[in-house]
Amino acid sequence: MEQRRKIRIFDTTLRDGEQSPGVSLTPNAKIEIAKKIDAIGVDTIEVGFPKVSEGETQAIKKITSLGIKAELCALARANKEDIVAVKECGVETVHIFIATSDLHLKNKLKISREEALSRISTSVSYAKKLGLSVEFSAEDATRTEISYLTKAYLAAKTAGADRINVPDTVGISTPDSISKLIKTIYGVVALPISVHCHNDFGLAISNTLAAIESGASCAHVTINGVGERSGNAALEEIVGILGFLEPSNRYYTSVKTEKIYEISESVSQTYGMKIQPNKAIVGKNSFSHESGIHTHGIINNPLTYEPVHPRNFGRERSFIIGKHSGKHAIKLVLLENNVIIDDIKLEKVLKEVKSLCDSGTIVDIHKLIQISLKY
Ligand code: KIV
Ligand code: ZN
Repeated sequence: MEQRRKIRIFDTTLRDGEQSPGVSLTPNAKIEIAKKIDAIGVDTIEVGFPKVSEGETQAIKKITSLGIKAELCALARANKEDIVAVKECGVETVHIFIATSDLHLKNKLKISREEALSRISTSVSYAKKLGLSVEFSAEDATRTEISYLTKAYLAAKTAGADRINVPDTVGISTPDSISKLIKTIYGVVALPISVHCHNDFGLAISNTLAAIESGASCAHVTINGVGERSGNAALEEIVGILGFLEPSNRYYTSVKTEKIYEISESVSQTYGMKIQPNKAIVGKNSFSHESGIHTHGIINNPLTYEPVHPRNFGRERSFIIGKHSGKHAIKLVLLENNVIIDDIKLEKVLKEVKSLCDSGTIVDIHKLIQISLKY
């Protein structure tokens, strides 16, 4: 069997994730989340962007003093002041970025392509002189003309960059386009490649996976997919796919998947961002079953209607009572709550549950026990 390739997990929940509209964490909150991210076993934590505020800088300094196992990285624009601010925080890696698409160069930075190349060389070599490890990002890479994009990455490589990142800044790639892009860049630049996908069209996970299959060795992700606009590729989904689906024959990560649900809940609470119930892996409904047919199947063998055991993600299975429920589910849920009823009563309870649900009533466990006690 072919050797499996390790995919590095670069968690940016504390940087891109904190750029989610309306989210602003206190230094203490950042510190607590950093400890929890470290505990799940990611390779790199992007702890923040020191230049944004004094509180951000203080939080990053504190995080660097905690003895965290993961590599710590902070963001900098391609200028000396930003890089000094990162160095002073005590992290080992700087993530330097500059936009390379003509759209950004003309409308945002208002500089020429040549000027951007010169800023890349100067900033990367300066960071290396300061003893930092450098990951270089060409912001808006997926809308940058390819011959110029490879020049930008080569400028970073010549100046000493240790690895490069390909950001799909506004999430416009498709699996096919990002796959071709990664192969081309890798063919020319030959440095370890990270991929950073945004979810504007719901393709962040497919694109990240396609990039990995095309040679990227690191995925930038966030817990629950938090991040700018529609967010980033969700850590739990990428790690779940690489750990449990067909790609697990070729790849592995160091993330302890059984700890994922706990951190997902912490991030949701701290960021004030509710998780949609049908969100893959960490949604309230991901391992809940209502339909009678499904519940019956699950009772016989959970694999009938669950792709993997919920405990792989730190979850528990639950049965929800509703109009699709059957006798098996009702009997089981009552039994779990120490209520035993015979088959005649069970028929009556089932009938009443269905008629209540038809009238729009929610039958929670308390209601179900109440009904069962009537008969
Ligand atoms: O999405 C993006 O382009 C970024 C860069 C800072 C890498 O987050
Ligand atoms: Zn981003």
